[in-house]
Amino acid sequence: MNERKPVTAATLLRAKQRGEKTAWLTAYDAASARIAEAAGIDVLLVGDSLGMAILGYDTTLPVSLDQMIHHTAAVVRGRHRAWVVCDLPFGSYQRSPEQAFDTSVRVLQETGCDAVKIEGGEPMAPTIRFLAERGIAVVAHIGLTPQSVKRFGSYRKRGKDEAERAGLLNDAKAVAEAGAVAVVLENMPEDLAAGITKTLAIPTVGIGAGASCDAQVLVWHDLLGISEENPPFAPAYANIRQVMADAIGRWADDVRQEGFPK
Ligand code: KIV
Repeated sequence: MNERKPVTAATLLRAKQRGEKTAWLTAYDAASARIAEAAGIDVLLVGDSLGMAILGYDTTLPVSLDQMIHHTAAVVRGRHRAWVVCDLPFGSYQRSPEQAFDTSVRVLQETGCDAVKIEGGEPMAPTIRFLAERGIAVVAHIGLTPQSVKRFGSYRKRGKDEAERAGLLNDAKAVAEAGAVAVVLENMPEDLAAGITKTLAIPTVGIGAGASCDAQVLVWHDLLGISEENPPFAPAYANIRQVMADAIGRWADDVRQEGFPK
């Protein structure tokens, strides 16, 4: 990919066509967006994982549209060339295509981001089509969809039996056919994700879905070792939690022992 030009949906499509992988990472503030972009991240996803990673909720369900807009606007202020995607939070798009359109317009106008992401497969295809036909770039998200955790009862892997596998392939085809510009495949068998990636013309973005996807995405706190516990498919590449705790602890000791300020 051209490192200087802004990333667009077309850039990501070309990368897939050339067999070039792209790296997506969640971000929730301007400082992190600057660091990630300087490190070569192509796409910054302001995920509703915000709720668990930053805001201390147990699930993503309590995250509000105002919170997503607040954090996405900050990420946009920190980026220079990365493509910025905002998750539409639970309850802000599922009722109807019109509701999803109104929510997307607010997100795009108030944050300056590039695309919205919505969870759900075939049942969300009419909504994706409605948005796409009105010029909105939509990233779909299938497989494990955390906003449905109350329905499924857990964050378990999806696509474990033949019926679920067929359902996910159908979901992937439906969202692509409806006009999604990319699709996140979360926590599903590698061979299924590989088959979907081969079948679809649009880029697939894997998280816990194996190496064949066109792109990979991770949650900031998992990648950097800030989360208390990582999912099995998200290895930490650093132990920043420890680095932060050590620095804070040394400073607090200095304060107590009158070693700060020097
Ligand atoms: O909310 C989020 O961070 C996400 C990614 C895990 C794909 O949806």
